[in-house]
Amino acid sequence: MKKWKISSWRNYPVKHIPEYRDKKELDQVLNKIKTFPPLVFAEETRHLKRQLADVVDGKAFLLQGGDCAESFAEFNPDNIRDFFKVILQMSLVLTYSASLPVIKLGRIAGQFAKPRSAPTEKQGDLEYPSYLGDNVNGIEFTEKARKHDPKRLFRAYSQSASTLNLLRAFSHGGFADLKKVHLWNLGYIKKSPQAKKFKDLEDKIADALSFMDACGINSEFNRRLKTVNFWTSHEALHLPFEESMTRIDSTTGEHHATSAHFVWIGDRTRQLDGGHVEYCRGIENPIGIKCGPTSKPDEIVKICNLINPNNEKGKITLISRFGHDSVEKYLPKLVRGIKKEGINVIWSCDPMHGNTIQSTTGYKTRRFNNVLKEVKDVFAVHQSEGSYAGGLHIEMTGQNVTECTGGAKNIQDQDLSSRYHTHCDPRLNADQALELAFLISDEIKKNSSYSKNAIQAAS
Ligand code: PEP
Ligand code: CO
Repeated sequence: MKKWKISSWRNYPVKHIPEYRDKKELDQVLNKIKTFPPLVFAEETRHLKRQLADVVDGKAFLLQGGDCAESFAEFNPDNIRDFFKVILQMSLVLTYSASLPVIKLGRIAGQFAKPRSAPTEKQGDLEYPSYLGDNVNGIEFTEKARKHDPKRLFRAYSQSASTLNLLRAFSHGGFADLKKVHLWNLGYIKKSPQAKKFKDLEDKIADALSFMDACGINSEFNRRLKTVNFWTSHEALHLPFEESMTRIDSTTGEHHATSAHFVWIGDRTRQLDGGHVEYCRGIENPIGIKCGPTSKPDEIVKICNLINPNNEKGKITLISRFGHDSVEKYLPKLVRGIKKEGINVIWSCDPMHGNTIQSTTGYKTRRFNNVLKEVKDVFAVHQSEGSYAGGLHIEMTGQNVTECTGGAKNIQDQDLSSRYHTHCDPRLNADQALELAFLISDEIKKNSSYSKNAIQAAS
């Protein structure tokens, strides 16, 4: 095995990394970022990995969600707060139904860079570089906006730092107190069927809390009732930036990506001999690997072995994203391939990226029912294969957007134009995200009792 270095990925072929015209300016920016404080601390990352090891053992569930691409335009405290509220609500629904802790992992505070299907975009006679995320260029279709500008990395770093700061304050400053669960509701979904169901859950939790209070257990004495752990993640796509945020942990001498607690390798950059896999094999963070229709089970096995040679639990999350009509075709083979080698992974389901279509009104969208079907099919496959469906990975927002069709409010193709704000892929709005959590809670219950039985039988 060749020696790994922070920069060894540069010796491998890489895809989807932006080219900059002014290399000197890029180097100046990257050298400056190397001197910036880490966004996350190595011990936090180890803590997350220990929690993820519990998911491998069927003792916890992983909920990962957020924007497809964060943007400078949508950066404001209300959006962060509303996103956090939906994640807390979804987690509560899932925790309650599965009786399992839910690990909360945001696609946030660094989820900027995007791989695109074509390097350029054409409109009429004009052709400019594709939009690659706000940390690289601007979304407006002009020559100036689409120029790759290294200085945007400073702004992305600063936005990530402020976002993380607010998330830490929400997680530990009392906002996540179970006694305040009624404050997590979003104004605009108060009248929806989900709000009614959530109110019922709130009442049950209030009853349980007053019972516990009577027994002398309350949030004054038990911090766990009023704080949550909230972790951040993004796709490790922009390797020059990731390299400049990779630091040696002084307590252990290990390398850590300090741009987020968890990073993943996208479906388009998971080549075994590519730079993205090379970068990820040297860092201690937990790593996600997206698995789509083109991923071959033996290749995924090799990637897992390369990134996690000691088969450490919690290190690898395989995020399947096959599409609602293809789960049966691809997932069983992948599960069998991984099981045969005895590789420890978390099986997470991304029901978004295999279900993107063009609406009849020209918008990129996803049908709520297709998203739901993929999750249900994935749960069914894991049950019949004897593996534990341990995670859900979704693109969602706390905003009242109209980007995905269907759901209880039955958004139609014609409605998409009214509040379509995403900078990349269509997201579930808060209503749809909460509805998804309710609709899959039965599957989660079955799956978790199945895994509990399996664990009991094995011990
Ligand atoms: C994403 O998660 O935004 C993404 C691009 O996914 P994938 O790599 O699975 O296509
Ligand atoms: Co996306």
